[in-house]
Amino acid sequence: MQRTIVGIDVGTTKVCTIVAQLSDTGRLNILGVGVTPSKGLDKGVVVNIDDAVSSIESSVEKAERLSGYRIGTAFVGVSGRHISSLNSRGVVAVQRPDQEITRNDVARAVESAQAVAIPTQREIIHVIPRAYVLDGHEGIRDPIGMSGFRLEVETHIVTGEVMAIQNLIKSVQKSGIEIDDMVLQPLASGEAVLTAEDKDRGVMLVDIGGGTADVAIFVQGGVWHTSVISVGGNHFTNDITYVLHTPHNTAEYLKLRYGSAIAGEPPAEDETDGMIEIETLNVGEKQQINRHLLNEILQARAEQLVELIYNEIRRSGYEGMLPAGIVLTGGGAQLARFDELMRDMLGMPVRVGVPTDLSGLADSLDSPSYATGVGLLRWGSRHGLSMLGSSQRISDERQGWGNVYERFKGWLREFLP
Ligand SMILES: Nc1ncnc2c1ncn2[C@@H]1O[C@H](COP(=O)(O)OP(=O)(O)OP(=O)(O)O)[C@@H](O)[C@H]1O
Ligand SMILES: [Mg+2]
Repeated sequence: MQRTIVGIDVGTTKVCTIVAQLSDTGRLNILGVGVTPSKGLDKGVVVNIDDAVSSIESSVEKAERLSGYRIGTAFVGVSGRHISSLNSRGVVAVQRPDQEITRNDVARAVESAQAVAIPTQREIIHVIPRAYVLDGHEGIRDPIGMSGFRLEVETHIVTGEVMAIQNLIKSVQKSGIEIDDMVLQPLASGEAVLTAEDKDRGVMLVDIGGGTADVAIFVQGGVWHTSVISVGGNHFTNDITYVLHTPHNTAEYLKLRYGSAIAGEPPAEDETDGMIEIETLNVGEKQQINRHLLNEILQARAEQLVELIYNEIRRSGYEGMLPAGIVLTGGGAQLARFDELMRDMLGMPVRVGVPTDLSGLADSLDSPSYATGVGLLRWGSRHGLSMLGSSQRISDERQGWGNVYERFKGWLREFLP
């Protein structure tokens, strides 16, 4: 039997809806993709619901038309500066007299890890168990069926501001879509562009979008750190408009067409001879742009972003634990030579990750810009579908996430083998 699954990436620059069919072998067959420029978002957060709704509706409509499916529910990505995360440990005594560990023990351990003080204006988005400790023995990935007295679980908890989450939920619901689940965007992107080996060895995922760069650090196969940096591709474009006094569209064009994160020497095949001629807003009038200056502007911002990313690695405490290096994705990762600059500055392996292993309309998703959208489908197919009965879908906006315990049981099923 084939199941249909939908992901909606509500980004700062674009909304991307993807409809796919999940085969028995777990392969995603892409049936439809709808991409529209996004309105009503700033740095990953909804700031105008009506605008956001119209963008989501139009993206959903396109995906429906292409796929021939009527979209009812979807996995939705969440991001923004309001997101924060912490690691928390839960401990319980094993209940059965013969000391065999059951699902119930694991559930209680995860529940106790969740008993951290969350301020009232925040709510939990994910509780992700990543490793278990049994009677002091660390590094156990699946304790069920093992024997012991004391079970500890290490979890990664992601929280966000209630209002920011509610506004996203409202925007999606007003577009006529029920939410299967919300997924932190860099975790979704990680599903699309990282291998199991990357995550086992230790890797940092950086999704450079329009408004933010979202990061996630994976060690020993699990998520250990997530965070959102307030610099994205738009900052590069804005810098160009300020320094070169060009309109926004021109600045974006210059960045995409001639931009480089390393100013250095112009490329050998530089047809511009160092000067780029562009039309100004006044018809018939031309402006000369110095290509080296353009790239110096981009390099300055790129270096700042690399520094912010490095600070995040240090802050996480996992410096030196990332032999698989950094995987860049998101539209902003396409800035020419950004990976090279990062490799030079940090001395770590850096590569650009694109969604792979898709069939159907896969060609239209062959870009780092679609990592989150594709990742939502992978997340949903791995963790999501089984956990949600229709009654658990978020249908009443006043209830928000609804029954926390139901969601909590869902998470457990999500992450247990
Ligand atoms: N070839 C390219 N070179 C440089 N930058 C690029 C290129 N292509 C796209 N970008 C930049 O990528 C950014 C958009 O990326 P993406 O589509 O991943 O954003 P988003 O998901 O809408 O935003 P966010 O994740 O921040 O909410 C824009 O700033 C755009 O200028
Ligand atoms: Mg994005």
